[in-house]
Amino acid sequence: MTMPRRISRCFNINDLRTVAKGRLPESLFAYIDGGSDDERTLRQNTATFDGYDLIQRALVDVSQIDLSTTVLGKKIDWPVICAPTGMTRMFHYQGEKAVAREAAKSGTFYSLSTLATTSIEDVGAETDGPKMFQVYVHRDRELSREFVQRAKTSGFDALCLTVDLPAHGNRERDLRTGMTLPPKLTLKSILDVLVHPAWVYRYLTSDPIVLANVEHKISEGTGEVSNLLQYVANQFDPTVTWKDAEWMMSEWQGPFVLKGIMSVADAKRAVEIGASAIVISNHGGRQLDSSPAPFDVLPEIVDAVGGQIEIILDGGIRRGTHVLKAMALGATACMVGRPYLYGLAAGGQPGVARALSLLRTEIELDMKLMGCKNLSEVTPNCLRKR
Ligand code: GLV
Repeated sequence: MTMPRRISRCFNINDLRTVAKGRLPESLFAYIDGGSDDERTLRQNTATFDGYDLIQRALVDVSQIDLSTTVLGKKIDWPVICAPTGMTRMFHYQGEKAVAREAAKSGTFYSLSTLATTSIEDVGAETDGPKMFQVYVHRDRELSREFVQRAKTSGFDALCLTVDLPAHGNRERDLRTGMTLPPKLTLKSILDVLVHPAWVYRYLTSDPIVLANVEHKISEGTGEVSNLLQYVANQFDPTVTWKDAEWMMSEWQGPFVLKGIMSVADAKRAVEIGASAIVISNHGGRQLDSSPAPFDVLPEIVDAVGGQIEIILDGGIRRGTHVLKAMALGATACMVGRPYLYGLAAGGQPGVARALSLLRTEIELDMKLMGCKNLSEVTPNCLRKR
């Protein structure tokens, strides 16, 4: 796999974001990049890491650095997991499979979204690496039950229930660009697409974009993505409660993750129902604007439930130092979505590889500079509040 120069010239996640911005139609870039309302939470998710400094210890033998940890019963080579993201083949034709392959290669978890453009079965066949399937409790409980079965049959190791989407967040960039459910084609959006001929060429010459996991549910209509999105939008169920989460867990009978937990009370409830892990997440600043940054609620959640449940930190991570600050405050692992999507949009599978290896290399170097040989040495003692 050769790495195009535009990718090898990216030295951090933000560089990949800049390349992605140039290569994608505006509406698609905005869909990845944007958040809800004023995007206060989106900005805060990253900015808050600056509230802490890292302490370095000198004169430690750091010739061997071990980044491995254990999540959901699987040993992973480094503490960053690929988050579930929807619509991925819209950003690059290699889509979910490219991300799943690179996650496996780098020795970490891949998470496939219900709103993916590649099927559970295809991703299952593509990778032996650790993988989880992300679900919602749908209005149509049979659909949820079917997903559980398909994920089991396809060899997924864990099920991840997203709990922060009782309604779709107010994504104003998407309203402006027409990236709505269903998409609206305006003159501006058509022009925007036409000035990205490389993207258009790939779009026209690759397999049609479908929401691969729910496609078969469209019994009438054209089966086009807009109809599917409408179908899925109608499937979000605002009546879902903890009872449904417990139901989902009992259907799955395996490692079970609740994604979108932001309070001590909910973290405790997750322990009570017997979930294996929580993902502290505000959906990348895409749902409730003015939700705190996950990193800001991490200490109180670790205080309340640390040691009783695995705690995965999702949101705002762009640097190895961000991961290490979260690990120091007691996270079991971290999750990233946009960083690998920027890489994918910037250059397909090599772009994903670059995103993951940049983060991993940064973590390893930072640990050397901090004098930490393994993650158990990354503790609150490594941090100093500014
Ligand atoms: C879907 O989950 C999204 O955040 O767009």
